[in-house]
This record gives sequence, C-alpha cells and structure tokens, in this order.
Amino acid sequence: MERTVEHRARLEGAVIPPGDKSISHRAALLNAIADGDARVSNFCVGDDRSSMLGCLRGLGAGIEERGSGGEEHFIIRGGGKLGLSEPDDALYSGNSGTTMRLVSGLLAALPFFSVITGDASLRRRPMKRILLPLEMMGARVMGRGGGSLAPLAFEGGCLRGIEYEMPVASAQLKSCILIAGLYAEGETTVVQPAESRDHTERMMGAMGADVEKDGLRVTVRPSNLKPVDIQVPSDISGAAFWLVAGAAHPNARVTVRGVGINPSRTGVLDVLREMGANIRVENAREDGNEPSADLVAESSDLRGIDIGGEIIPRVIDELPALAMAASQARGVTTIRDAAELRVKESDRISATAEGLSALGAKIRETDDGMTIEGGAKLRGAEVASHGDHRIAMTMAVAGLVAEGTTAIGEADAADVSYPSFWETLDRLGAGG
Ligand code: S3P
Repeated sequence: MERTVEHRARLEGAVIPPGDKSISHRAALLNAIADGDARVSNFCVGDDRSSMLGCLRGLGAGIEERGSGGEEHFIIRGGGKLGLSEPDDALYSGNSGTTMRLVSGLLAALPFFSVITGDASLRRRPMKRILLPLEMMGARVMGRGGGSLAPLAFEGGCLRGIEYEMPVASAQLKSCILIAGLYAEGETTVVQPAESRDHTERMMGAMGADVEKDGLRVTVRPSNLKPVDIQVPSDISGAAFWLVAGAAHPNARVTVRGVGINPSRTGVLDVLREMGANIRVENAREDGNEPSADLVAESSDLRGIDIGGEIIPRVIDELPALAMAASQARGVTTIRDAAELRVKESDRISATAEGLSALGAKIRETDDGMTIEGGAKLRGAEVASHGDHRIAMTMAVAGLVAEGTTAIGEADAADVSYPSFWETLDRLGAGG
C-alpha cells in the first residue's frame, strides 16, 4: 500500500511509541522457559510480535493475552527449561531476524526435531553467524545454501559450553549463544568486538541466571530461570523517528514518552547531541532492570559529524533516520563501519541513499556506510520502502520536511514494528 506525506509547517505534540521490540522478545522467550508465570505489560505490537509469539506457541508455550483499555498484558506460563515440546510444523519467523536467531538458540538445545523459516527477506539474511558457534557447542543443525540460510533444521540437545570471539557486534548472535549456554554443559563465554544491546544478559540476571559481564565478555552457566514481571518501556528505535523529525524540522517541538534509555541503545541520543540537536531527557525512571525517560526534541541547528567505530552497534537501527537528519545539517556527515546495514530487512545503505536522493538529498553510498552533504532542500517525490519498516518510516519523516507531497511505496511495512505510526504522524502536524 502506498502512503503520501505532506509537508508540515509545524510539528508539535506528544507521542508514545510501542513497547520495545528487543525487550519484549526476550521477555516472552526467557519467561517461556522459566519456572512459573510472568506478566509482561506494554508488549511490542506489530508483525514481529506475532512472529515471536507464534514460534513460542508452536513450541507449546502457554501465552495468554489479557486485559483491555490500556491494561493489556500477556501472561507467559513458563514450564521450565525443558517444558517446551517438539513442534508439529515448521516455525515461522516472518520478517523477524531477532525471532529466528534467538529461538535458534533454544532449538539447538532442546531434545527434539524442529525447523524454522521466515519470509523472503529473512531467508536471504545471514544465518551462518549463529550456526557456526552452535555447531561448536555440539548442535546438530542444517540450513539451506550450505548452512548459511534459512530454513534451518535442528536435532537439538547435548550442548557443551564454548568461549567464542564474535566476528560481528550483533546482539542477536550474542543472545542466541547465551540462550543455548543456559542449557550447555560447563560455561559459555562470548567476547564481543564492541558493545551491543545487553537486554538478554540483563534479563537473565534479573531471572536469577548465573550470568556475568566483564567488559566485552559475557559468561553464562547452566541455570534455571525464575519468572520475572516486566513493564516494557517504549521503543527508542521507534522514538528515533520523532526525535529526528523534531530536531531536523525547522519549526518543531516533539515529546516522546516513556522511552527505554538503556545505555546500550542510546547511541541515537549521543549522535543527535553531537550534531547539535536540542534534546532534553525528563522524568528519568527505572523499571525492573531497564531505565526509561521522556525525551523532548526541538528544532535544532544541526551540524555534520563523523559516525563510526564503537558507537555503531548502539545506533545500528537508527542510522537511516540519522542520515535524514544529516541531510538537513550544516556540513558533511560520514557514516562508516556500518556494513551490517546491508544485511538488515533490506540493504539499508542503498535503500536509504536511493530514497533520500530521490527527495533531493546529496548522499553517496560507500561499502560500509554513506557520506551525506547537508543543507539539501528536500522536495516530495516517489520513494520505495523496499518492504522495510525502518526505511518506510525514515522516508515519512523526510516527507514532513520536504516541500510538497512524498509518496512512499509499500508503506505498510511499518506494521512490522509500529502499526500506529501513520496515525501518529497525522496527529503530529499542526498547520500542515
Ligand atoms: C536486535 C539486534 C540488532 C537490531 C535488531 C534487533 C535484537 O540486530 O538491528 O533490530 O533485538 O537483538 P543485530 O544483532 O543483527 O545487529
């Protein structure tokens, strides 16, 4: 479905993005193997949630949706580490890389046969990165394309701990190994090349697992998990679109409420601040093991900066939106060390460069990032989402700033993580 976005003279209002997807996924999966029931509130919405819950239900997990009128929550009925059972059909991960990679950590460990697959985009994404360490742990697993692509088939059970130097700073890879490590004999250690989001190790810790973090090393020993109730904060990756809109639009003030500000996720705030963005953090609080706050972004005199190195894993999902902000900054912004963007739901380097160029931005692709010359006057045009939620939403934010009308193809891709995005966008504009 195509969506059009009109230029807005002013952006003003308060928004509440959906619950954090990464935290929700871990809350469901880890509680599904815990010893008892847990309540998870403000669970993420969208197609990726159906993917994770569908896979867990396919494994026999008891997951009930309860409540209404703002009180919606899930009860996850943990049946213990070995409480899940052989699925009678292939598990379907849809578009969700997190689902496939985290659930694979379980499938490698559980003593039965299983197959997991996904949509066309996910079946193109690299899975060798998880199969390699899982095989080192003793897992029996096969995949398409010589074991590098889904569908993946497991004959699970009998894992042993390993020490693994991760070749990429991927939280999905780290989490897959740590989840398998809960079941393995001995201890399992991952060594990260740079810090990536740490929700898995935080949540395992809160659930009583024997997990330890030492700099970039995380070690887990076989553990049973206690269920943990979780109030999921709003997703900073969803909030990022409104923060960029607020900072890059010449006449804006946008408040985003209850956003998760776990330091392993706040790269977008660090980058925007370094660009000179006017962003305030208000009402900081802590829920369970995860901090949150309200964020206020106002029109800012942005400047171009260099974005690369260790910050990249902490800002990986927000780079397309930040490229849009960079197109409105003074001077040049360079994004480098971000080749991982090429293996997301789409090739986000070329999708971002193609879409923003069509709107008049001066942006050049590089192998591992982009170079953006700021100060471009954007003009509405037809752009493609490439079926990728974050590209659809980046183009929508660009459309708010661009003159005239921006038409975004396959705009419903936003439903993967943010089904209410378009409604919120309509509400934010005053005097459009
Ligand atoms: C995620 C990790 C990141 C991120 C994805 C969610 C997670 O992927 O891009 O949207 O929840 O662990 P990688 O681990 O592949 O970098």
